[in-house]
Amino acid sequence: MRFTLNAREVELNVAPLARLLDVLREDCGLTGTKEGCGEGECGACTVLVDGEAVCACLVPVAQVEGAEVVTIEGLGDDHPLQRAFMDEVGAQCGICTPGMILTAITLGPRPSLAKIRRGLAGNLCRCTGYEAIYRAIHRAS
Ligand code: FES
Ligand code: FES
Repeated sequence: MRFTLNAREVELNVAPLARLLDVLREDCGLTGTKEGCGEGECGACTVLVDGEAVCACLVPVAQVEGAEVVTIEGLGDDHPLQRAFMDEVGAQCGICTPGMILTAITLGPRPSLAKIRRGLAGNLCRCTGYEAIYRAIHRAS
């Protein structure tokens, strides 16, 4: 299985139907991608595949053959969204945070608050009450 992962070509010997989530965490050691529900409902496992936010718990790794996959690690340590989440206290336990940030990237430049709310509707957070997350994304944009 070959694909681009965080701007690096990877070739893995994994079962084609393995979940992308498990391959990222267990075979690639990228534990920034989190598992919440495991069934496509919480968005904690969100990664970018060819620029689209997808739930890695629902995607067999065979589907990303030849694609470009970006996980939270691919953003580096000082992305403006990460900094804004810190400044606005948009992360508490942090389980939802990688998925929130990667989904926010797909909203494009300067999204309105309404667009942020709509865009993040599939990303659940049990800790923050959401307002700090929306503020962080607005601030970063
Ligand atoms: S763990 Fe994938 S959507 Fe919840
Ligand atoms: S910060 Fe805990 S689930 Fe969002």
